[in-house]
Amino acid sequence: MRNNFAAFTLMFLAALTTLVYVHVKWPLAAGQANDELQSAITKPASARDCHTLCNADSIKINHLELDIKVDFLKKIISGSASWSLANENKKKELILDTYDLSIDSVFVDGGKTKVTLDSPVKYLGSALHIPIAATTQQVKIYYNTGSNAHALQWLSAEQTHDKTDPFLFTQSESIYARSWIPSPDGPGIRFTYNARVSVPKALLALMSAENPQNKNDSGIYHFQMEQPIPAYLMALAVGKIKFKSVDARTGIYAEPGMLAKASWELNSLGAMVKAAEGLYGPYRWGRYDVIVLPPSFPIGGMENPRLTFCTPTIIAGDRSLVSLIAHELAHSWSGNLVTNATWNDFWLNEGFTNYFERRITEKMMGKDYADMLWYLGYQILQDQVKLLGDTSQDTRLKVALEGRDPDDGFTDIPYEKGSLFLRMLEDNVGREKMDAFLTKYFAEHAFQTMTTEKFLEYLYQNLLDKDDTMIKKMQIHHWVYEAGIPSNCPNIIPVRFRAVDSEAGKFPVEAVAAKKWSTHEWLYYLHRFADAPAKAQMQQLDALYHLSKTGNSEIADVWFLMAIKAGYKPALAPMEAFLSQVGRRKFLEPLYTEMMKTPEGSKEAKRIYSRYSKNYHPLARESIEKILGLRK
Ligand code: BES
Ligand code: ZN
Repeated sequence: MRNNFAAFTLMFLAALTTLVYVHVKWPLAAGQANDELQSAITKPASARDCHTLCNADSIKINHLELDIKVDFLKKIISGSASWSLANENKKKELILDTYDLSIDSVFVDGGKTKVTLDSPVKYLGSALHIPIAATTQQVKIYYNTGSNAHALQWLSAEQTHDKTDPFLFTQSESIYARSWIPSPDGPGIRFTYNARVSVPKALLALMSAENPQNKNDSGIYHFQMEQPIPAYLMALAVGKIKFKSVDARTGIYAEPGMLAKASWELNSLGAMVKAAEGLYGPYRWGRYDVIVLPPSFPIGGMENPRLTFCTPTIIAGDRSLVSLIAHELAHSWSGNLVTNATWNDFWLNEGFTNYFERRITEKMMGKDYADMLWYLGYQILQDQVKLLGDTSQDTRLKVALEGRDPDDGFTDIPYEKGSLFLRMLEDNVGREKMDAFLTKYFAEHAFQTMTTEKFLEYLYQNLLDKDDTMIKKMQIHHWVYEAGIPSNCPNIIPVRFRAVDSEAGKFPVEAVAAKKWSTHEWLYYLHRFADAPAKAQMQQLDALYHLSKTGNSEIADVWFLMAIKAGYKPALAPMEAFLSQVGRRKFLEPLYTEMMKTPEGSKEAKRIYSRYSKNYHPLARESIEKILGLRK
């Protein structure tokens, strides 16, 4: 039915009709939606998670008992996943998500049962059909992971920081948990878990659960996660890992050679948790620890409950990149407590978290500092909209990822447009009201899932006082359901960037002034050359500030991108060194993309990639191979 209407009209009306549907009066700006249209838009069809094959919408899945062995020689995880369930609707089968798993045997309430494993569906993997009875309480699956397990990165000793022992880590978001656990792998399905994990005796295992702080002699570790979480928050790290506490409830895990640097960098961890609690209510997960992973970790950070996973590229030596930890910590509310129902609602996780991150940063570092992050975020949003096109449907907050890779939604839009939307609300209603609203929102929806429509309804009822003029002025439907950046997007002018502007008139900027700059001022300064950098400018800047040798990953990334554009050769060897070890996709993708724009560059890109691809995560490899035209 959707196709009967122009997409534009449909999106414009989506917000309105949703709210009409829930019996609240919303000002209908352009024509009334008819009944047929209302039901087309508001039917739960869109609420169904299109990225899971699991039928947990009709069966209650409560708990997982995981019993696995990590085999570094074979590079497989093998063992069993036992699911407790209540088949209240008397369904005839339980369907679980799997991806490249081999299923050895399945037991239903202790009895061996014949199951079927469908052939793989693009992106989604294979549905595992397990016949069950109305009384079935437990389903136990014995399985092995495959060589295409997207979630797993097996590192040889040489690929780690210390180079003494192998390392394994998982990355389950968005739909990769199914590649290491046969599971109900949708963000809307929550369960508690216990795990028994057997690893080589020299190594320590950690999970998104209650964790050990020391290695034991048996190599067998037990874990408990008492709060219900979705599968994308299942996580495991195994390696030569040591722990150092920051305060009574926070601490850092890292390889021994990284631990001192990492603990210095993140010494504000305890204060950060307190700042977050001061904003939006108690931290509900017990301890909060961070593990700093080897450099090939494909993303910046991952909000695994109780144990944030993060890239070592934030260990800059000056604490200038710790806002990433504020971000992952903030997910303990937005995301882990109140979770996006489907990946189409991803902005509810990331936009809220970006907003929350900046509020934590403001508390810790002051308004002038946080304003810089807001402005850089706004620039990132503009660049992203320019890249996608301002009429691109992927620039909406609520996206449509049916039939697509859920990671297609992993752009800067949910982050930056999402957080600016909340900032716009704050600017309109005032901070006090906004904070009370968010605190109440998290408390009332703790351990629940949220759709965009449910949130808008809650917003209307609890923050906007049903004030129609105000709502119209805020352009809410445009923010959520339409492409591009609405005209009421907050305009934040950071005082510290004004100072950069006044210096930047003189080129190159004077050394005295630049010495005082933080990473953020540098990023802002470099952004003004970023589109079309001139070789001569690059030379001058490098001579003065040695940017090709910067140890700061954010600056290095922008600088190397400029070097490719300008054809500035002296930066290319350091760039190769950077690409040889850093596996963070946010850094890799733009550099490879830019290299591919010239014949000479594309040859280099392919050479560099073939040399270092073994250091990249399977997901990073996949996206770079697309950029290099090596796969579709
Ligand atoms: N949850 C995300 C990471 C993620 C998103 C993984 C989607 C897989 C699919 C995490 O919280 C995140 O946003 N990380 C950012 C850092 C943050 C400071 C913007 C990253 O990795 O760059
Ligand atoms: Zn995030």
